[in-house]
Amino acid sequence: MSLDEGLELKHRDGLARIAKFHGVETPTLMPVVNPNLVVISPREMRANYGVQAIITNSYIIWKNRNLREKALEEGLHRMLDFDGLIMTDSGTFQSYVYGDVEITNSQIVSFQRDINSDIGTILDIFVEPDFTEDMVINAIKETAQRGKEALEYRGEMLLAGPVQGGIYPHLREEAAKIMTSIGFDYYPIGGVVPLMEDYRYREVVESIIHAKMYLDPSRPVHLFGGGHPMFFPLAVLLGVDFFDSASYVKYARDDRLLFPHGTRHLSEIKYVPYYSPVLEKYDLREIREMEKKERTAILARHNLYVSMREMSRIKQAIHEESMWEYAESRAREHPRLLEAYRAVLKYSRYLEKFESISRKSAFFYTGPESLKRPIVHRVKMRLRRFPRRSVVLSLPRPWSANLEKIPAGARVHTPFGLVPLELEDIYPVQQSEFPWNEEKMMVGEYESITREEFDIHKIKSVADYQFGKGAGEALFNGDVRIIKSKNTGKIRNIIVDREHVASMRAEDGFFTLRIHGAMRLHRKFKGRRLRVMVTDDSAEFNRTGKNVFAKFVLDMDPALRPGDEVLVVDSRNNLVAVGRTLLNRFEALHFQRGMCVKVREGVDNPKSSLVEM
Ligand code: GUN
Repeated sequence: MSLDEGLELKHRDGLARIAKFHGVETPTLMPVVNPNLVVISPREMRANYGVQAIITNSYIIWKNRNLREKALEEGLHRMLDFDGLIMTDSGTFQSYVYGDVEITNSQIVSFQRDINSDIGTILDIFVEPDFTEDMVINAIKETAQRGKEALEYRGEMLLAGPVQGGIYPHLREEAAKIMTSIGFDYYPIGGVVPLMEDYRYREVVESIIHAKMYLDPSRPVHLFGGGHPMFFPLAVLLGVDFFDSASYVKYARDDRLLFPHGTRHLSEIKYVPYYSPVLEKYDLREIREMEKKERTAILARHNLYVSMREMSRIKQAIHEESMWEYAESRAREHPRLLEAYRAVLKYSRYLEKFESISRKSAFFYTGPESLKRPIVHRVKMRLRRFPRRSVVLSLPRPWSANLEKIPAGARVHTPFGLVPLELEDIYPVQQSEFPWNEEKMMVGEYESITREEFDIHKIKSVADYQFGKGAGEALFNGDVRIIKSKNTGKIRNIIVDREHVASMRAEDGFFTLRIHGAMRLHRKFKGRRLRVMVTDDSAEFNRTGKNVFAKFVLDMDPALRPGDEVLVVDSRNNLVAVGRTLLNRFEALHFQRGMCVKVREGVDNPKSSLVEM
């Protein structure tokens, strides 16, 4: 059983997430600190580079008598002079490199506990890329056995249970299922170092995806040995939270510099391509002529700076909700990265489950791969809800404003497919940028409809797209009044039989539901549809307008996506509130910390049941 409650989600873009874990904001990089050979002190790392967590190797400490005694006496934090999060590895990597280690699983886990490691790692079996399936299966079983054993020795220490599986996707899944069922606090993805070294990025992304499919989504995922900043964007896009880097110092020793676009030897650099406060202080020639030790220290600082900066850039992309655009453009830095990115897109059906209904940032086209993103898969699936009709237009935006007469039942050619004219305002149809302009063209004869008729089609079509077929009829039957913005002329509020049912958001063209809208959908759709079911204790709070916490969620419609409008119901399916979910079902059933639904209105505190007219 795990000891703590896992991550607290702060912001997300698909599987990419910003979260809090024991005082650390993820995604983050843990620089490797070798206590025998400190190149940059952990204190300096924190002060100058914003390092929040470090990783060190407990086996190296254990093997050296002085270090071992010091660590046992002072504890790791004092020994390394670091008050942030410290993770320890177990000696698995040494076992892979040197063939064996002189310690058992229970000894090394107990040692990590005794030196006050915050996150300890079991002595897992390192699966190499050329292992046969049988060898991998045995390694997974042995790792699981050691994991169970370690739970007895871990004391208060958080425990990392690595997911092995080598290059076999089904065995990564198997390993993830077994390790999750045992229940660790933290899940590294192991055995990828040789793949990373050979630029076998496609196999690494497949390893991450297949592991993520079965890992508890509320727990941190760490990519063991994924320390090159070139690979950070793809890994974070797939939900990796922690990285460790020995690369910053290993490369420095070889006179190599890290950049977000790749590695360069010091001798190759004539112009420094990025601002680097470290290199800024010197002439390149001066660095080349320095003594080895001094040069290594400078290059290591540069490499650490670049790595931390790249993580910051990625976090900003999550914050802006432009992670797909960022990872996609970064993937163009190396053909092997592009190959890996294309492999990611083959999992659009799975990835779509984590995609929000809309984003703060517009959909930017960066190349033909853009149209294979999970959000495009979503649009194509949902457009199947709309009948095929004959009039097809090709129009510049805003579509209907560019038409003198509005054609009945028209669809418009877009890169997302043929989109009904009424869906002109929704994300990403409207909020997208392509490197071409639509030509104005009309095909076939059509009958025209009035602006009022078009508005009714529009609100019903958006509702059908957003909530499912039939939602438009359910929400908007009766005496419908559409209130438009005085400034923009866009639809804002919809009143039905004097009840405020929904508002249309200017940013993404979708509806925000009011409690009366929720009641209508609750009557129309049965079972779990559109619902988040909560414990009756929680329901008592939610009906007064309080948010829903993930740990009180009993069940949820599996078709709901982050950002969707949801009906909050009690265990007997009575509607208690309406709001917006931050999680999908898989996540809601696992997360123990943080919010699931941001409630807008509870049945006991309707905010605007009757609109002044
Ligand atoms: N460091 C790099 N890869 C691994 C791995 O697979 N397991 C452990 N424990 N440490 C690693």
